[in-house]
Amino acid sequence: MTYPSVSVGRPTTSVQLDLVSLAAMASALELEPGAVRSVGDTVRALRVVRWHEWLVRRWLRALAQHGVVDLDGDVYRVLGEVSGAGVGELDLLHTRLRITDEVALLHRRALPQLPALLRDDVTAAQLLAPDRTVLGALAGERLCLFTAELDEACAELVQRAALDRPQPVRVVELGCGTGRLTTAVLKESPFLLEHYRFTDISGQPLRAETLDVNQDFAAQGFLPGTADVVVAGHTLHHAVNLCRTLVRIHDLLVPGGELVFTTPIGDDPVALTSTHFLHSPQRGGEVPRGGEIFPSSHVWQTALRAAGFVLKTEVSVGGRSSARHHMFHAVRDVA
Ligand SMILES: C[S@@+](CC[C@H](N)C(=O)[O-])C[C@H]1O[C@@H](n2cnc3c(N)ncnc32)[C@H](O)[C@@H]1O
Repeated sequence: MTYPSVSVGRPTTSVQLDLVSLAAMASALELEPGAVRSVGDTVRALRVVRWHEWLVRRWLRALAQHGVVDLDGDVYRVLGEVSGAGVGELDLLHTRLRITDEVALLHRRALPQLPALLRDDVTAAQLLAPDRTVLGALAGERLCLFTAELDEACAELVQRAALDRPQPVRVVELGCGTGRLTTAVLKESPFLLEHYRFTDISGQPLRAETLDVNQDFAAQGFLPGTADVVVAGHTLHHAVNLCRTLVRIHDLLVPGGELVFTTPIGDDPVALTSTHFLHSPQRGGEVPRGGEIFPSSHVWQTALRAAGFVLKTEVSVGGRSSARHHMFHAVRDVA
């Protein structure tokens, strides 16, 4: 299949990478200009396994946003083709956008294999094996050099919150993983270490306590009103229900307690054709938020308000790129 390039000036690096990914989606879905099809017919014709069907819908939504299809409920009309950058430039695009090695590798290997991935003839985990891990890709998704900037901004906010309070300040970190954000916070405020609870969903290198953001906090040993500050780096998108998790964090905090977290914002075509395969639900499970893995900042703002937080600061890095990352600083209401 060929994709004619539209010459309206050279697109930015991130747009080029988006176009390559969108072109691969269109090719995998076997879109033919003028065709009218239903999503159901498409998944049947392509033999898409049930747990990846959500991705077909997400791809069609992404293609609709770029004017390639007109999507109306379950039916879509193909309006045209995607003008894409050459796949030969892929490595350069990844490097320029500071995409992490794990994600770049998965993306490069996945693009030509999208139909096989949809059929589960090959899995994203196999594309990363044998030298890489799924956890590695998930830990690195949407991370880039910009992320360090936000980690430092988080560390400053946590320090300010701590200095504004009588000691000792109790910090709970969610999803500390290999401790990138932890390191930034404790470098800025080593005095917090004494009352710092490192947590993650399962045993991690930092010997974290187990705390699953999708389960009741008190039942896991994190009682209401026992934290002054909660921090979470690139973790809260694992909440199946954002509002429910934010309410749990709200209850864990004392009135006036502070939540500082970073998260990727917006599903982009690179993620949709690489790491999002790793977010497909387990057999019998359901993909969260209808397949919106990285909700928009607006969704986060609404969920924070609904959970009883007052939003204090928002910072975005990465511009309109596939590396876009966001920081939120919110305070628990005192009611
Ligand atoms: C992208 S890593 C971020 C790690 C670390 N915070 C950092 O900044 O490098 C996401 C982390 O979320 C954790 N995680 C995944 N699902 C979770 C859940 N339901 N509850 C708590 N943590 C979870 C993972 O184990 C992983 O350590």
